[in-house]
Amino acid sequence: MKLSVIGTGYVGLVTGTCLAEVGNDVLCLDLDVNKINTLNNGGIPIHEPGLLEMVQRNVAAGRLHFTTSIDESVAFGQVQFIAVGTPPDEDGSADLQYVTAAARNIAKHMTEYKVVVDKSTVPVGTADKVKAAINEELAKRGIELPFSVVSNPEFLKEGAAVEDFMRPDRIVVGAEDARAVELMRELYAPFNRNHDRVIVMDIRSAELTKYAANCMLATRISFMNELANLADKLGADIEQVRIGIGSDPRIGYHFLYPGCGYGGSCFPKDVQALIRTADSIGQPLKVLHAVEEANDAQKRILLEKIQAKFGANLTGKNFALWGLAFKPNTDDMREASSRVIIQGLWDMGATVTAYDPVAMDESKRIFGDDTRLSYADSPMHALESADALVIVTEWKEFRAPDFEQIKQALKTPVIFDGRNLYTPAQVKSHGLEYLAIGRR
Ligand SMILES: NC(=O)c1ccc[n+]([C@@H]2O[C@H](COP(=O)([O-])OP(=O)(O)OC[C@H]3O[C@@H](n4cnc5c(N)ncnc54)[C@H](O)[C@@H]3O)[C@@H](O)[C@H]2O)c1
Repeated sequence: MKLSVIGTGYVGLVTGTCLAEVGNDVLCLDLDVNKINTLNNGGIPIHEPGLLEMVQRNVAAGRLHFTTSIDESVAFGQVQFIAVGTPPDEDGSADLQYVTAAARNIAKHMTEYKVVVDKSTVPVGTADKVKAAINEELAKRGIELPFSVVSNPEFLKEGAAVEDFMRPDRIVVGAEDARAVELMRELYAPFNRNHDRVIVMDIRSAELTKYAANCMLATRISFMNELANLADKLGADIEQVRIGIGSDPRIGYHFLYPGCGYGGSCFPKDVQALIRTADSIGQPLKVLHAVEEANDAQKRILLEKIQAKFGANLTGKNFALWGLAFKPNTDDMREASSRVIIQGLWDMGATVTAYDPVAMDESKRIFGDDTRLSYADSPMHALESADALVIVTEWKEFRAPDFEQIKQALKTPVIFDGRNLYTPAQVKSHGLEYLAIGRR
């Protein structure tokens, strides 16, 4: 099939590339000239394991192309994926300006039947807005053309995006006409060889499914975080509790890890957006309000522990920070806990020396050349003038460090671990104090 993907970010680039990988002809559009130049010069604008090789392979095979031309993109694919951002508006609801702009662009240039597929995470009712926007633009042109609107939310995880797309747990298709459903089934057939993963439903349910999934996961995290804080106060060990409850198949072990808060481009904004949707129709989601509040507080939990240890005036102190990305295997720092922690340390007068395997360029873009933040080229170099170590992202390379070396390097032998990477007894046996999340 010939496919166009509008928006070549995390979701658009992975979607386009994986669909090219199974033999489709794909044209990816973005309005960001730098992104398209990077891609046309053989690079990729994000860090995502396995993606660069797959992009290069499909470009070389002539199945994957990149453009900034809307004309060209609308003309190319019978299926037009919308994968643009849906950032929070001022009040937290999803800002749909990029989605509707993309839809209008399709309508301004289309000359034949198109299937417009919403891959962006969008509130219930967006497909209707997309339909209305297309009809309005066609009316301005004084023409009538057939088109279908489909909701096909994306469930990939950054850091494992290629794997998730190629081996999806489920492919949700919200559609109301048989022609579009048939086309979507055909498109996704290569990802269904083991068993059918396509779940067809009405459009509104498909739109809500995406928010429901992310909000359920965020709820698990916030619940475990609150439980860990309670364990801290009660002298229990959350790791034992996690194993104790995860063994119940109704609960399971996934997504039960307490830490210093969830971040990223999805959970925070999707939780907010669903809260706003529910509030706006007088059906508030009380649980979700608490999830958000608990997470905002959890991003500051390490700051509280640092303050309890060193006091509120950290002038002259330097903290080594391991991990800037909101999670491992990505350079994404949107809503990352590291940002709250760095700002909090600055506010108390401290400086920070950070190390992250891939997110330091992104951090430089965000924080500029603020002299209160410097960067080290290895985890151990970050410790050189540090008073203490703060761990924020659970990168694999932090899992088995040389504790003796850490002890020697730090002015005060203490590790604040926001991701519970180590066994407390093991760290303590090296003469280090270990302050983690709910660990005993
Ligand atoms: N990142 C994830 O892990 C993830 C996972 C599932 C779903 N989603 C959802 O997918 C959507 C996209 O997220 P993302 O992380 O890929 O965003 P992103 O910011 O990485 O990419 C969006 C891209 O769209 C481009 N764009 C904006 N308007 C455009 C237009 N009119 N025409 C062409 N290009 C345009 C932007 O320049 C940008 O490159 C969001 O709704 C998000 O919630 C994201």
